[in-house]
Amino acid sequence: MANVLVLYYSRGGHTAHISRAISEQIQSQGDNCDVMNIQDKTPIDWSKYQAVALGACVLYGSYHKSVFEFVRENQRHLSQLPNSFFCVNVVARKPEKRIPENNKYLQKFLTLSAWKPQDVKIIAGKVDYPSWPWYDSLMIRLIMKMTDGPTDPTAIIDYTDWDDVKAYADHITHLASSGVVIA
Ligand SMILES: Cc1cc2nc3c(=O)[nH]c(=O)nc-3n(C[C@H](O)[C@H](O)[C@H](O)COP(=O)(O)O)c2cc1C
Repeated sequence: MANVLVLYYSRGGHTAHISRAISEQIQSQGDNCDVMNIQDKTPIDWSKYQAVALGACVLYGSYHKSVFEFVRENQRHLSQLPNSFFCVNVVARKPEKRIPENNKYLQKFLTLSAWKPQDVKIIAGKVDYPSWPWYDSLMIRLIMKMTDGPTDPTAIIDYTDWDDVKAYADHITHLASSGVVIA
C-alpha cells in the first residue's frame, strides 16, 4: 500500500479542495494519503511517504512567499521522494494554458523554486468574485476583461476538471509505486 503526502498553499480554499479530492481518490483505490496545509507548519515524518505532491494557487502572477520558503526549507526531502508540483490558476481555463510550456506561472515557479519538481501539473481554478475582497475582485475582473474572461461581479465559476484531478491522483499513486526519483 502506498502512502502519499499532499501539501498545499491555498488562499481562498479551492486549492485545499483540490488537495482533498486528490486524497479521496488515492484512498478510494486502497492507498493512504495525508493532506497538509504548509501554513500549519505541521512537523512532517518524511520517512512515512512514498511520494509527495505540492500544490499552490497563483496570486497576481506569482505565489505566496510561504510557498517559496517551504520549498527552500524542505528541498532535500521533496527531492528524495517521487515528487510533483501542481499549480492552480484561472488562466488555465483555456486548454492551451494547461500545457506546462505555455503556462507562464508554472515556468515562473520552475525558475524561482529551489526545488525542481520531477513532475508538474496545471489545474484550472475557480473564480469567486463575491467571496473575494472588493479590491481583488476588481483587479481580477479588469484582467479578465483584457483576456475575454468573466467580468460579472456576481460570477462564481469552477473551472476545475474534477475527473482530471482524479486522473492526476492516480498518476501520483503510480509515481509512488514506481519509486523512481529523477533528481
Ligand atoms: C488575489 C487573487 C489574485 C489572482 N491572480 C491570478 C493570476 O495572476 N493569474 C491567474 O491565472 N489566476 C489568478 N487568480 C485566480 C486563482 O489562482 C484561482 O482563483 C484559484 O482557484 C485560487 O485558489 P485558492 O482558493 O486556493 O486561493 C487570482 C485570484 C485571487 C483571489
